[in-house]
Amino acid sequence: MIVLGIETSCDETAAAVIRDDRTIMSNLVLSQLEEHRAFGGVVPEVAARAHLDHLDTLIKGAMDDAGIGFADLSGVAATCGPGLIGGVMVGMMAAKAIAAACHLPFIAINHLEAHALTPRLTDDLEFPYLLLLVSGGHTQILVAEAVGVYRHWGGTMDDALGECFDKSAKLMGLPYPGGPHLEQAAHGCLNPAAACARFPLPRPLKGRPELDFSFSGLKTAVRAHVDKLPPGDLRREDVADLSYSFQDAICDVLQDRLGRALIKFKATYQPTQPSLVLAGGVAANLRIRAALTTLAQDNGFRLVAPPVKLCSDNAAMIAWAGIEHLRLGHTHALNVAARPRWPLVEMEGF
Ligand code: KG4
Ligand code: ZN
Repeated sequence: MIVLGIETSCDETAAAVIRDDRTIMSNLVLSQLEEHRAFGGVVPEVAARAHLDHLDTLIKGAMDDAGIGFADLSGVAATCGPGLIGGVMVGMMAAKAIAAACHLPFIAINHLEAHALTPRLTDDLEFPYLLLLVSGGHTQILVAEAVGVYRHWGGTMDDALGECFDKSAKLMGLPYPGGPHLEQAAHGCLNPAAACARFPLPRPLKGRPELDFSFSGLKTAVRAHVDKLPPGDLRREDVADLSYSFQDAICDVLQDRLGRALIKFKATYQPTQPSLVLAGGVAANLRIRAALTTLAQDNGFRLVAPPVKLCSDNAAMIAWAGIEHLRLGHTHALNVAARPRWPLVEMEGF
């Protein structure tokens, strides 16, 4: 079984071909970073136009890299939500057109589900598993029970974690997108203890029994520190120290929230080999990976974190989710609508 996957829900145009034995036959991602940099964030109309300009070439490239023609495909999968609707429409319509012209099944993919299923492409992972999904738009603790069956155990009450990284980085004058730059800046911190004492930051919701997150107060605290520093560009050392303290606070919060989730997961499912999966763009952060590796080990869990290239937005995960559904006989009609909002708990029966 071979599936072509298409991803256009945000600022990456992507196409990939995957075989059901988990071979990535091709995986192309074109980032629109340059188009959006001048605006300091993703502009939906600019994104949709850029997808339109590049998607055909990318699909042809993915098919050529895989060395196959459309007749060799078993299906075409595309992100149909959640995401920026103009962009989602571009990828979804391209996939429907190929499916219609080549008489292939069409599979409508939930972008969040694709992130959630990625560890089954990269690692031989059985259901159920506990999942921390952290990206620019989402922060959720979920249990994946089966393909299409997800339990929502906690989420953010305000900003997503990636958004908090990006906004805090912007306050410090770091380039867009801020997450990776902030992580890089923190490497310049020479004295971690002194940095955290100099720039103390809150740990929102730490110690609370529910598994939710809140990050807007953390961002506001970063702003307060920045405002107290001399006006103008921040000194390199200040950015390094503040970035270090910021990541320290984030890791502390994640360890607290996830620590509770691990206990609940064990009690609920009594798994023989419990796994904690890290997914979404923020999963690229090595400090967070290290903090959660320690937490997982201390609690007898295996931490599964897909390679960075497959954590951020890509089409390999869309094609893989397509294979997971196609194997179960799930296909969708060509009149399925694109959905700007599409919570994972609304997947059942789709
Ligand atoms: O999953 P993703 O590629 O796109 C969606 O939001 O769906 O995630 C992008 C987010 C951005 O907020 C970006 O700053 C963040 O992931 N990110 C990071 C790192 N790499 C990407 N945040 C912290 N540390 C990183 N190394
Ligand atoms: Zn994503």
